[in-house]
Amino acid sequence: MELDIFKGINRTRYCGEYTIKNVGENVEVAGWVARNRDLGGLIFIDLRDRSGIVQLAFDQNTEKQIFDKAFALRSETVISAKGVVRERSSKNKDIPTGDIEIFVTELNVLGLAETPPFEVTDSTGAKEELRLKYRYLDLRRPSLQKNILLRHKITKVARDYFDENGFIEIETPTLIKSTPEGARDYLVPSRLHEGSFYALPQSPQIYKQLLMLSGFDRYMQIARCYRDEDLRADRQPEFTQIDVEMSFVDVEDVLKVGEGFINRLFKDVLNVEIKTPIKRMTYTEAMENYGSDKPDTRYDMKIINLSEILKNCGFGVFSDTINNGGTVRAIVAKNSADILTRKEIDKLTDHAKGIGAKGLAFIRFADAEPSCSFKKFLSQEVWQALLKELNLEPHDVALFVADRKKTVLSVLGALRQIVAQKLNIIDNSKWNFLWITEFPFFEYNEETGGWDAMHHPFTAPLDECIEYLDNAPEKVFAKAYDLVLNGYELSSGSIRITRPDLQKKMFKALGLSDKEAYRKFGFLTDAFRYGAPPHGGFGLGLDRLCMLMANTDNIRDVIAFPKLQNASESMSGAPSPVDDAQLKELSLKILKTESKEKPEN
Ligand code: AMO
Ligand code: AMP
Repeated sequence: MELDIFKGINRTRYCGEYTIKNVGENVEVAGWVARNRDLGGLIFIDLRDRSGIVQLAFDQNTEKQIFDKAFALRSETVISAKGVVRERSSKNKDIPTGDIEIFVTELNVLGLAETPPFEVTDSTGAKEELRLKYRYLDLRRPSLQKNILLRHKITKVARDYFDENGFIEIETPTLIKSTPEGARDYLVPSRLHEGSFYALPQSPQIYKQLLMLSGFDRYMQIARCYRDEDLRADRQPEFTQIDVEMSFVDVEDVLKVGEGFINRLFKDVLNVEIKTPIKRMTYTEAMENYGSDKPDTRYDMKIINLSEILKNCGFGVFSDTINNGGTVRAIVAKNSADILTRKEIDKLTDHAKGIGAKGLAFIRFADAEPSCSFKKFLSQEVWQALLKELNLEPHDVALFVADRKKTVLSVLGALRQIVAQKLNIIDNSKWNFLWITEFPFFEYNEETGGWDAMHHPFTAPLDECIEYLDNAPEKVFAKAYDLVLNGYELSSGSIRITRPDLQKKMFKALGLSDKEAYRKFGFLTDAFRYGAPPHGGFGLGLDRLCMLMANTDNIRDVIAFPKLQNASESMSGAPSPVDDAQLKELSLKILKTESKEKPEN
């Protein structure tokens, strides 16, 4: 097939925009051949562009030379066409343009296509691995086009909303000094400064705070962030934050701006009304009730503390744990006995063990009498008290974990999610936003026996907790807040420390010597000596937000060119070895370590 010379096109509309109202119009369209159907004397071509599909029609009235050309068109060939819109004789209710077709009077072939490695449709059965290798083809699929357009819309509303509220978009550098901020840095070697490295920012945290010191008052940025951490379904090594910082504010002011954005975004993009103020829950409440700092509140199934009832029960696993400072807690899966069979409970037990539990005990109320793994050890009195506390009714199943509190909560928190999925009780039409507030300031590190900052070290403590900084770290809570949506952490933020004495205390409490703290953060603490306004803000994960709004659980579905689980990009082959000459220029040498196995794809 010969290519035609492209002489320009006066495109009337995108393919997906034609309706019955356009019948009779002379139009020009362009796009990709999605499907070519030959019905003898009739040819129908589905022409695809980013807006959808329109049918091109060729019949006995078509010029022979055009008809022959159309006949030979293969899928994914790029064409343009002129023609007349006409009403279809047999309509297709499944697509928006199904009432009409374009009778073609001129056809140009603009780009030839070999047979693609998979069918470019939403119903393609191709594995994600293959699709990512040919991502440019994958991105032609209507569902991904829709996601990328949705992402554009979300970003646009973000820019509009923050602009209308007095925020200025300022770019911050992406070649920066390596400063610890939770994850591992991606490093970039410097050619001009032998042996020195830039880091790619994990977030614009320090720069946005400096912009507050510079007097910009309100900043926002659609900011690229880079973190060398283990990937999960909702994590990518490079991702984007809607990053915000404001001066002369306290927690309430920041939450209000965040809520205003969410409300506006959902209205403009999904036509969904998110009620404000958004519900709040303290970190402690979230952990105690849901075993998670990002609880999915679309279903109930709260964790129940049974330590009081079971502390002297005859079942050693429970009473010994409680008497040694641990706890016994349970979740009750209502009306679940049919689904949570003994076999399913065994599976849950294996899972619980895999995430740190020593075992999983249960009561399964399937028959007239509940069956229970530990009933024989309990007195009638304790048994009755237990059933009452659990409010256990016929067809319910209760799952118990005995251990240190931290383990019990995290295991039950995870089981809660798995059980809810198994029971299919999650209402997918709900948008349950939740602010988690009053995070602990420090997190005890069992390995080092020290205290780590739960957030970055610039997060301010609650005013009433400052007195405990020196001697009771467990009593210090932070002016920090996360925004959670349906069990995902969407955003994280805080009011920052601006008092140099407090910042010093903070570094000290984290075990950093003055010298070390100065080496790492000196440029920021120096800046605080020249007039720092009170300030705070948040970073909202754009990819996660898009993922949830697009109703997918795979973050890669909303990123044009995402990375695989092992942080590589299969299409281009990044990361890749570089020439010796390039290494030499950077004064670098690769040490081959035998033991370091290549991560699996
Ligand atoms: P934090 O580290 O909590 O806070 O990040 C903020 C939000 O960014 C998103 N996010 C990610 N999304 C995809 N892939 C990742 N690897 C990833 N890591 C984080 C999450 C998260 O809630 N500078 C602070 C914000 C502040 O205090 O203003 C920060 O970066 O949705
Ligand atoms: P064992 O005494 O280890 O045979 O356990 C008796 C029952 O208690 C079994 O059903 C175990 O799964 C359960 N069990 C053991 N340890 C725990 C624990 N830490 N929390 C909850 N149940 C447990």
